[in-house]
Amino acid sequence: MTKILEIRNLNKTFTSQYGELRAVDNVDLTLSEGEKVSIMGPSGCGKTTLLNLLGLVMKPTSGEVIILGRNANQMSDSEKAHMRNSVFGYVVQNFALLYGETVEENIRMPLLYRKKRLQKKEEDARIRAILNKVELNIKWNEKVEHLSGGQQQRVAIARALVNEPKIILADEPTGALDSKTSENVLDLLLDTANRHQSIIMVTHSERVANRLDRRLLMLDGRIESDYKTAE
Ligand SMILES: Nc1ncnc2c1ncn2[C@@H]1O[C@H](COP(=O)(O)OP(=O)(O)OP(=O)(O)O)[C@@H](O)[C@H]1O
Ligand SMILES: [Mg+2]
Repeated sequence: MTKILEIRNLNKTFTSQYGELRAVDNVDLTLSEGEKVSIMGPSGCGKTTLLNLLGLVMKPTSGEVIILGRNANQMSDSEKAHMRNSVFGYVVQNFALLYGETVEENIRMPLLYRKKRLQKKEEDARIRAILNKVELNIKWNEKVEHLSGGQQQRVAIARALVNEPKIILADEPTGALDSKTSENVLDLLLDTANRHQSIIMVTHSERVANRLDRRLLMLDGRIESDYKTAE
Protein backbone atom coordinates (compact mmCIF):
# COMPACT_ATOMS: atom_id res chain seq x y z
CA MET A 1 0.00 0.00 0.00
CA THR A 2 1.23 3.48 -0.83
CA LYS A 3 2.17 5.54 2.19
CA ILE A 4 0.38 8.85 1.96
CA LEU A 5 1.05 10.49 5.30
CA GLU A 6 3.61 9.95 7.99
CA ILE A 7 4.20 11.72 11.26
CA ARG A 8 7.23 11.20 13.45
CA ASN A 9 7.86 12.28 17.04
CA LEU A 10 5.21 14.94 16.76
CA ASN A 11 4.76 17.32 19.67
CA LYS A 12 2.64 20.37 20.32
CA THR A 13 3.01 22.33 23.53
CA PHE A 14 0.78 25.24 24.49
CA THR A 15 2.08 27.73 27.01
CA SER A 16 -0.35 29.64 29.17
CA GLN A 17 -0.47 31.32 32.56
CA TYR A 18 -1.02 27.87 34.07
CA GLY A 19 2.21 26.52 32.62
CA GLU A 20 2.95 24.21 29.74
CA LEU A 21 0.52 21.73 28.30
CA ARG A 22 1.51 18.95 25.90
CA ALA A 23 -1.60 18.70 23.74
CA VAL A 24 0.14 16.25 21.38
CA ASP A 25 2.85 14.15 22.99
CA ASN A 26 5.35 12.27 20.84
CA VAL A 27 2.96 10.86 18.30
CA ASP A 28 3.99 8.59 15.41
CA LEU A 29 1.53 7.57 12.73
CA THR A 30 1.55 6.20 9.20
CA LEU A 31 -1.44 6.33 6.91
CA SER A 32 -1.82 4.41 3.64
CA GLU A 33 -3.76 5.43 0.57
CA GLY A 34 -7.45 4.68 1.02
CA GLU A 35 -7.17 3.86 4.71
CA LYS A 36 -10.09 5.00 6.88
CA VAL A 37 -9.19 5.75 10.49
CA SER A 38 -11.14 6.94 13.51
CA ILE A 39 -9.74 8.90 16.42
CA MET A 40 -11.56 8.52 19.71
CA GLY A 41 -10.79 9.79 23.17
CA PRO A 42 -12.10 12.09 25.88
CA SER A 43 -12.58 15.84 25.52
CA GLY A 44 -9.28 17.70 25.69
CA CYS A 45 -7.06 14.69 24.85
CA GLY A 46 -5.66 16.40 21.72
CA LYS A 47 -7.76 15.11 18.81
CA THR A 48 -8.42 18.47 17.17
CA THR A 49 -4.83 19.58 17.75
CA LEU A 50 -3.55 16.42 16.05
CA LEU A 51 -5.83 16.99 13.03
CA ASN A 52 -4.67 20.61 12.81
CA LEU A 53 -1.03 19.52 12.84
CA LEU A 54 -1.34 16.89 10.18
CA GLY A 55 -3.58 19.12 8.04
CA LEU A 56 -0.85 21.81 8.13
CA VAL A 57 -3.18 24.24 9.85
CA MET A 58 -0.92 24.45 12.89
CA LYS A 59 2.86 24.22 13.29
CA PRO A 60 4.23 21.54 15.61
CA THR A 61 6.57 22.42 18.48
CA SER A 62 8.79 19.62 17.20
CA GLY A 63 8.63 16.59 14.97
CA GLU A 64 7.81 15.88 11.36
CA VAL A 65 4.77 15.69 9.13
CA ILE A 66 5.47 14.06 5.77
CA ILE A 67 2.77 14.25 3.13
CA LEU A 68 3.15 12.40 -0.17
CA GLY A 69 6.85 12.11 0.59
CA ARG A 70 7.28 15.84 1.23
CA ASN A 71 8.39 17.01 4.66
CA ALA A 72 6.27 19.94 5.88
CA ASN A 73 9.27 21.41 7.70
CA GLN A 74 10.82 22.03 4.29
CA MET A 75 7.77 23.56 2.66
CA SER A 76 7.32 27.29 2.10
CA ASP A 77 4.12 28.91 3.36
CA SER A 78 2.69 29.05 -0.14
CA GLU A 79 3.49 25.38 -0.73
CA LYS A 80 1.72 24.51 2.51
CA ALA A 81 -1.29 26.58 1.48
CA HIS A 82 -1.35 24.75 -1.84
CA MET A 83 -1.08 21.37 -0.08
CA ARG A 84 -3.91 22.30 2.29
CA ASN A 85 -6.17 23.08 -0.62
CA SER A 86 -5.21 20.26 -2.96
CA VAL A 87 -4.42 17.28 -0.72
CA PHE A 88 -6.79 17.80 2.20
CA GLY A 89 -10.51 18.16 2.62
CA TYR A 90 -11.31 19.36 6.09
CA VAL A 91 -14.66 19.25 7.87
CA VAL A 92 -14.08 21.25 11.05
CA GLN A 93 -15.96 21.08 14.34
CA ASN A 94 -17.99 24.26 13.69
CA PHE A 95 -18.19 23.84 9.85
CA ALA A 96 -16.64 27.32 9.23
CA LEU A 97 -19.04 28.14 6.40
CA LEU A 98 -19.12 31.61 4.86
CA TYR A 99 -22.33 33.15 6.14
CA GLY A 100 -24.02 35.61 3.80
CA GLU A 101 -22.93 33.46 0.84
CA THR A 102 -24.97 30.82 -0.94
CA VAL A 103 -24.52 27.06 -0.85
CA GLU A 104 -22.98 27.19 -4.33
CA GLU A 105 -20.51 29.96 -3.40
CA ASN A 106 -19.42 28.06 -0.32
CA ILE A 107 -18.74 24.89 -2.26
CA ARG A 108 -16.99 26.71 -5.11
CA MET A 109 -14.49 28.28 -2.72
CA PRO A 110 -11.83 25.53 -2.74
CA LEU A 111 -12.02 25.47 -6.55
CA LEU A 112 -11.04 29.16 -6.65
CA TYR A 113 -7.76 28.42 -4.88
CA ARG A 114 -6.53 25.73 -7.25
CA LYS A 115 -3.18 26.42 -8.87
CA LYS A 116 -4.91 26.16 -12.22
CA ARG A 117 -8.61 26.90 -12.19
CA LEU A 118 -11.01 24.59 -13.97
CA GLN A 119 -13.30 25.95 -16.64
CA LYS A 120 -16.50 27.45 -15.27
CA LYS A 121 -18.54 24.70 -16.91
CA GLU A 122 -16.46 22.01 -15.24
CA GLU A 123 -16.64 23.75 -11.85
CA ASP A 124 -20.43 23.93 -12.14
CA ALA A 125 -20.64 20.25 -13.07
CA ARG A 126 -18.54 19.26 -10.07
CA ILE A 127 -20.59 21.38 -7.68
CA ARG A 128 -23.80 19.91 -9.10
CA ALA A 129 -22.49 16.34 -8.75
CA ILE A 130 -21.35 16.78 -5.16
CA LEU A 131 -24.59 18.54 -4.19
CA ASN A 132 -26.47 15.60 -5.63
CA LYS A 133 -24.45 13.21 -3.50
CA VAL A 134 -25.24 15.09 -0.31
CA GLU A 135 -28.85 15.57 -1.50
CA LEU A 136 -28.88 19.34 -1.38
CA ASN A 137 -29.29 20.31 -5.06
CA ILE A 138 -32.50 22.20 -4.46
CA LYS A 139 -30.59 24.49 -2.08
CA TRP A 140 -27.97 25.63 -4.67
CA ASN A 141 -28.99 29.29 -4.36
CA GLU A 142 -29.89 29.40 -0.69
CA LYS A 143 -27.86 31.42 1.77
CA VAL A 144 -26.18 28.96 4.15
CA GLU A 145 -27.52 30.64 7.28
CA HIS A 146 -31.04 29.67 6.15
CA LEU A 147 -30.20 25.96 6.30
CA SER A 148 -30.69 23.63 9.23
CA GLY A 149 -27.69 22.45 11.23
CA GLY A 150 -27.61 19.07 9.47
CA GLN A 151 -27.90 20.73 6.05
CA GLN A 152 -25.07 23.11 6.89
CA GLN A 153 -22.93 20.16 7.78
CA ARG A 154 -23.72 18.59 4.42
CA VAL A 155 -22.53 21.80 2.74
CA ALA A 156 -19.33 21.49 4.76
CA ILE A 157 -18.89 17.91 3.49
CA ALA A 158 -19.54 18.93 -0.11
CA ARG A 159 -17.00 21.72 0.22
CA ALA A 160 -14.42 19.35 1.71
CA LEU A 161 -14.86 16.85 -1.13
CA VAL A 162 -15.27 19.05 -4.21
CA ASN A 163 -11.52 19.20 -4.91
CA GLU A 164 -11.29 15.39 -4.74
CA PRO A 165 -8.78 15.44 -1.85
CA LYS A 166 -6.55 12.46 -1.13
CA ILE A 167 -7.00 12.85 2.61
CA ILE A 168 -10.25 13.83 4.31
CA LEU A 169 -10.05 15.13 7.87
CA ALA A 170 -13.27 15.30 9.83
CA ASP A 171 -13.80 16.58 13.34
CA GLU A 172 -17.15 15.48 14.70
CA PRO A 173 -19.18 18.45 15.79
CA THR A 174 -20.03 18.58 19.44
CA GLY A 175 -22.60 20.73 21.14
CA ALA A 176 -24.68 22.39 18.46
CA LEU A 177 -25.89 19.20 16.79
CA ASP A 178 -27.47 16.27 18.52
CA SER A 179 -25.49 13.06 18.35
CA LYS A 180 -27.93 11.41 15.91
CA THR A 181 -27.52 14.21 13.37
CA SER A 182 -23.76 14.20 13.61
CA GLU A 183 -23.69 10.39 13.25
CA ASN A 184 -25.78 10.69 10.09
CA VAL A 185 -23.38 13.22 8.67
CA LEU A 186 -20.36 11.03 9.39
CA ASP A 187 -22.17 8.14 7.69
CA LEU A 188 -22.79 10.39 4.70
CA LEU A 189 -19.15 11.40 4.57
CA LEU A 190 -18.14 7.72 4.53
CA ASP A 191 -20.67 6.94 1.82
CA THR A 192 -19.52 9.87 -0.31
CA ALA A 193 -15.77 9.27 -0.15
CA ASN A 194 -14.31 6.78 -2.63
CA ARG A 195 -12.02 3.86 -1.83
CA HIS A 196 -8.83 5.70 -2.85
CA GLN A 197 -9.44 8.53 -0.43
CA SER A 198 -8.02 8.26 3.08
CA ILE A 199 -10.09 9.48 6.00
CA ILE A 200 -9.14 10.49 9.51
CA MET A 201 -12.30 11.06 11.46
CA VAL A 202 -12.75 12.17 15.06
CA THR A 203 -15.89 10.57 16.42
CA HIS A 204 -17.52 9.62 19.68
CA SER A 205 -19.70 7.01 18.01
CA GLU A 206 -18.76 3.33 18.37
CA ARG A 207 -20.97 2.49 15.43
CA VAL A 208 -19.29 5.00 13.11
CA ALA A 209 -15.84 3.92 14.32
CA ASN A 210 -16.74 0.32 13.51
CA ARG A 211 -17.37 1.30 9.88
CA LEU A 212 -13.73 2.41 9.56
CA ASP A 213 -10.67 0.20 8.98
CA ARG A 214 -8.65 1.27 11.94
CA ARG A 215 -9.14 2.86 15.30
CA LEU A 216 -6.85 5.15 17.30
CA LEU A 217 -7.53 5.91 20.93
CA MET A 218 -5.97 9.10 22.30
CA LEU A 219 -5.36 9.90 25.95
CA ASP A 220 -3.44 12.91 27.28
CA GLY A 221 -1.95 13.76 23.89
CA ARG A 222 -0.69 10.24 23.18
CA ILE A 223 -1.98 7.45 20.98
CA GLU A 224 -2.80 4.79 23.57
CA SER A 225 -3.95 2.14 21.16
CA ASP A 226 -4.03 1.63 17.41
CA TYR A 227 -5.76 -1.40 15.99
CA LYS A 228 -7.53 -2.68 12.91
CA THR A 229 -11.29 -2.96 13.17
CA ALA A 230 -12.71 -6.43 12.55
CA GLU A 231 -14.45 -6.84 9.16
N1 LIG B 1 -4.70 27.43 21.17
C1 LIG B 1 -4.59 26.80 22.34
N2 LIG B 1 -3.96 27.40 23.38
C2 LIG B 1 -3.84 26.78 24.58
N3 LIG B 1 -4.29 25.54 24.82
C3 LIG B 1 -4.92 24.90 23.82
C4 LIG B 1 -5.11 25.49 22.54
N4 LIG B 1 -5.77 24.60 21.74
C5 LIG B 1 -5.98 23.53 22.51
N5 LIG B 1 -5.48 23.68 23.74
C6 LIG B 1 -5.50 22.69 24.83
O1 LIG B 1 -4.96 21.47 24.33
C7 LIG B 1 -5.68 20.36 24.81
C8 LIG B 1 -6.20 19.54 23.64
O2 LIG B 1 -7.21 20.29 22.97
P1 LIG B 1 -8.00 19.70 21.70
O3 LIG B 1 -8.86 20.80 21.19
O4 LIG B 1 -7.01 19.11 20.76
O5 LIG B 1 -8.87 18.55 22.38
P2 LIG B 1 -9.96 17.55 21.73
O6 LIG B 1 -9.49 16.17 22.00
O7 LIG B 1 -10.21 17.94 20.33
O8 LIG B 1 -11.26 17.84 22.62
P3 LIG B 1 -12.84 17.85 22.20
O9 LIG B 1 -13.28 16.41 22.13
O10 LIG B 1 -13.48 18.57 23.36
O11 LIG B 1 -12.99 18.59 20.92
C9 LIG B 1 -6.77 20.91 25.71
O12 LIG B 1 -6.33 20.83 27.05
C10 LIG B 1 -6.90 22.35 25.28
O13 LIG B 1 -7.31 23.17 26.33
MG1 LIG C 1 -11.87 18.75 19.34
